[in-house]
Amino acid sequence: MGITSFCNVTVSTFRRRVRWLTSAACALTIAVSWPATAQSTADIRYDQAARIFRLEAADVSYVLGVNQEGELQSLYWGKRLRPADPIPAAQMDKGTSSFELPVNVTPQEFVGWGSGLVVVPDVKITFPDGNRDLELRYVSHIIHNDTLSITMKDISRDVTVALLYQIDAATGILARSARIDNHTGAPLTVEQAFAATWNLPASSDYQLRYLTGRWAGEWNLQQGPLHPGKVVLESRRGSTGDEVNPWFAIERGNEPDQDTGNVWFGALGWSGSWQINIEQDWQHRVRVTGGYTPFDFAYRLAPGESLETPKFYGGYSATGIGGASRQLHRLEMDATVPQPHHLHPVLYNSWEATEFNVNEAGQEALAEKAASLGVERFVMDDGWFGERKDDHAGLGDWYVNPQKFPHGLKPLIDKVHALGMDFGLWVEPEMVNPDSELYRKHPDWVLNFAGRPRTEGRNQLVLNLARPDVRAYVYGFLDKLLTDNDIAFLKWDYNRNWAEPGWPAAPLDEQKEVYVKYVENLYGILAELRQKHPHVEIESCSGGGARVDLGILRYVDEVWPSDNTDPFDRLSIQNGFTYPYAPGLMMAWVTDSPNGMNNRSTSLEYRFLSSMQGSLGIGASLNKWTPEDFATAKKLVAEYKAVRETVQEGALYRLISPVASEYAATESVARDGHQAAVFAFLHSSQEGQPFPQLYLRGLDPEATYRLHLQTGQLADDAVERASGDYWMHHGVAVSLRGDFQAAFFTLEREGN
Ligand code: DGJ
Repeated sequence: MGITSFCNVTVSTFRRRVRWLTSAACALTIAVSWPATAQSTADIRYDQAARIFRLEAADVSYVLGVNQEGELQSLYWGKRLRPADPIPAAQMDKGTSSFELPVNVTPQEFVGWGSGLVVVPDVKITFPDGNRDLELRYVSHIIHNDTLSITMKDISRDVTVALLYQIDAATGILARSARIDNHTGAPLTVEQAFAATWNLPASSDYQLRYLTGRWAGEWNLQQGPLHPGKVVLESRRGSTGDEVNPWFAIERGNEPDQDTGNVWFGALGWSGSWQINIEQDWQHRVRVTGGYTPFDFAYRLAPGESLETPKFYGGYSATGIGGASRQLHRLEMDATVPQPHHLHPVLYNSWEATEFNVNEAGQEALAEKAASLGVERFVMDDGWFGERKDDHAGLGDWYVNPQKFPHGLKPLIDKVHALGMDFGLWVEPEMVNPDSELYRKHPDWVLNFAGRPRTEGRNQLVLNLARPDVRAYVYGFLDKLLTDNDIAFLKWDYNRNWAEPGWPAAPLDEQKEVYVKYVENLYGILAELRQKHPHVEIESCSGGGARVDLGILRYVDEVWPSDNTDPFDRLSIQNGFTYPYAPGLMMAWVTDSPNGMNNRSTSLEYRFLSSMQGSLGIGASLNKWTPEDFATAKKLVAEYKAVRETVQEGALYRLISPVASEYAATESVARDGHQAAVFAFLHSSQEGQPFPQLYLRGLDPEATYRLHLQTGQLADDAVERASGDYWMHHGVAVSLRGDFQAAFFTLEREGN
């Protein structure tokens, strides 16, 4: 590995044309065309004299250096600096007392546990002779395109860590990971492996945001001041989980405004157990360390073996938390989900209408009704396979139930195609009901500790995907399903957490590797399926939003954020979701009223407008709808299609947060700025208070826009045509009164 002396690499990204290709049977094509704009570039430079690396893209500079001890030290992360701006070389911090060893107060990029480290180490290793001391020093680096790779090595033992830094040209978001290599002649055990540590500048005025939740109540935004000490965000569930999502944002100052202020943020690309530690010292310096949770973790590396961590993404926004979200949305849509990606079709899903009670005639009748609304994808949910009459049986037996579908799935799929839609199907590949042929044949295939109880959740157990035979079975049945049937979409569900994470068939000192190998095999299956069936799109669902992260997003096209489909609850759920994740990734169904979750009644318009802020779906019992309902829904589906590119791909501005407020409003601005779509919601009028004036954002101040009211009411004196400045500074007076009212309007730029 050679050392690059003075290196300057420029990488360009440019916008693409993407096209939605459907199965041969359907002739639907939706093209997303983004205009060419100034190209974004990423620069990575190394100044050999000062031993400083500068990674720069978009509005961000990230600077690190090698200090006199050979440690890798963070020097600057924030708004982009001028090329000639000086950055002093890295200098180890000596601390202020004997209780403050330099290793703890020097802001290190990646640090092994050893030499008195008391902050969270990035890596901790036990060697066979009992030594647990690891001190990593810079050895060499390589710069290649948008990637910097730095090799570090222990001061005496032949263990190296390769740190990877990639910077996204369009957003300046960095992706960091680490690979630990055992070059010694003996096995060692990695007990802790984080992807990276992010160091923030010192400030006593930081606000931390993160997301918590539970089934049917995901995406609650938590926000509060950061104090010296440690905050731990974590999942020990085997999967991402909905209790906390692996995302954080730290804002300097307490900006009441969404779109101003300095924000540092990060998200883990991992769908297994994880941990993010946010530590602040007495000098108010902040370090954020994330990766595999060390809880119950052990990974044995034989000589010559390596362990690679997931990616930990980190970004900086000078345009507040709103700007941070928009950067992440851009990264997800353009550089994370499988490319080229497509606009999501309007979808119908059978779950809330029929639950497990599916059959050929019933699904065909629903498909006819869905098609009449302009729906483009028909998805049959749970209940079509094995002896699946309810949630007690059938998982694992992936043959078509012959009583429900005597001629297989083909007649239904043909019918759906004849109606002009493509066909999607629900699966839950990683699970098994004890009441199934698969479990009776292979009781050893589930996660378990020998001789101990096997704790069920929803009457099911988790298959141990880390096992090669289980991996082969799961890939095999999915491949066959997609080969034998013209399926355009899989809803991939996952309805419980792990209980006994045992792998008795593996050698004793490798059993805990299940946490890593399970998820790697999950990703491997998804990647192979996508490769072999490139037209199949996949939705990640985990009883709602319990598996949404930047790892799974590399293999799926969209996610199901929550089983709670109440349109009012959804306003907060969707609001929280969009802090890290793009509205276009978020499937949102219009379902029945009163809602099954809380018996709340809302109008069909209100339900549609709530769902139209994401990827629109319909999950209602269409058999109960009146002709008026069909007419209303048809009109709203058409209106959605006219703004879907703006909503799914555009820039989101949160105008009024629904959290603890009677009001809510969002605005999406098209990438080329030709259109804005605005949705406004009123919970309940109180004492005749008018709906707050909506001050729009992200418009061209000079351009003229024409307002088109689609649903709801504006104030009597509302104008129709005005400048971007007018809409942003004079604003729009929406007239909403009563309970659960909503409005939707667009602005179209003139002279595009
Ligand atoms: C949980 C999902 O979140 C629901 O949408 C539905 O697919 C059910 N599972 C089916 O069992």
